[in-house]
Amino acid sequence: MIFLGIESSCDETSVAVYCEERGILSSETFSQDFIHARYGGVIPEVASRNHIIKIRPLYEAALEKANISKEAIDVIGVTNAPGLIGALFVGVSFARGLGYAIRRPVIPIHHLSGHILSAELCHPDLKPPYLAFVVSGGHTHIFDVDEALNFTLLGRTVDDAAGEVFDKVAKMAGGPYPGGKFIQNLAENGNQNAIKFPIAFKHELKLSFSGLKTAVMLAIEKGEHKIEDIAASFQHTVARTLAEKASLAVKLTGRNKIVVSGGVACNAGIRKTFAEMKNVQVFFPDFARCTDNGEMIAYASSRFYRFRRFFGDSASASDTKHEI
Ligand code: KG4
Ligand code: ZN
Repeated sequence: MIFLGIESSCDETSVAVYCEERGILSSETFSQDFIHARYGGVIPEVASRNHIIKIRPLYEAALEKANISKEAIDVIGVTNAPGLIGALFVGVSFARGLGYAIRRPVIPIHHLSGHILSAELCHPDLKPPYLAFVVSGGHTHIFDVDEALNFTLLGRTVDDAAGEVFDKVAKMAGGPYPGGKFIQNLAENGNQNAIKFPIAFKHELKLSFSGLKTAVMLAIEKGEHKIEDIAASFQHTVARTLAEKASLAVKLTGRNKIVVSGGVACNAGIRKTFAEMKNVQVFFPDFARCTDNGEMIAYASSRFYRFRRFFGDSASASDTKHEI
């Protein structure tokens, strides 16, 4: 069967074609990063307008590269939550219009389930049950995923998401938006043990990064350390925080596999720290599939379709019938 995936929840417009027998056939993405960079963050209205401009050409290119006609599509999956409401509406409206035109079902896909399942796409042997960390610009959530694709939230940040803090620290250090890669580059030339930053809620699955953000701001203001050392110590603290939560979650659930996904999962320091964990297998999606993409939505729609889950005759941006 052939699944079309549409993602437009934030500042990436992305359309992909996934075939259950042959894998990903095409994937077309337009990232608006460079448009929003000058504002230091995503401007929702600007994002929606660019999704409107880009979605149809990307859809057409995705079909062309996959070498299929629109009639070959069996199911359309579209991100319907969470995200910027105007941005979501563009993808959902496009999906519903297409579904109506070609008389195919439209499945609403929760963005976080897409991020989590993208690890399966990159590691075909990976199947639930597993623990899943979604670490992105908008989320830092820990889930337990069972065999039947039930997602149970075990913990989440009570304030900033990890990616948001990377972006804010990058801004304090005079870097661009988004700033995760900038901080990683600084960290490569710094000493990660130069400053001992705090870890919040040490013995719980709850996370918090706002205290860390303030501590980094104070360290920059004091000027006693090189910016590279501050960046390395900050990155190491985020990595240690996530790894400590992972160890705790493993202890509590008995799971022996962990998925780490979302844009921050690109981070080299975080990948290294997780790789050092004992007695668990850790799965990261490829770099291109850590950040927002249509492939993860196309793949997730095939997984949920098989379980007849989230299955209705339409998807709406206000649909909150999610188990995640
Ligand atoms: O998953 P994503 O593309 O969008 C959201 O759903 O939020 O994640 C974007 C986030 C940004 O905060 C960006 O700074 C962060 O991922 N990011 C990184 C790295 N690459 C992207 N953070 C740390 N290190 C990186 N190498
Ligand atoms: Zn995302």
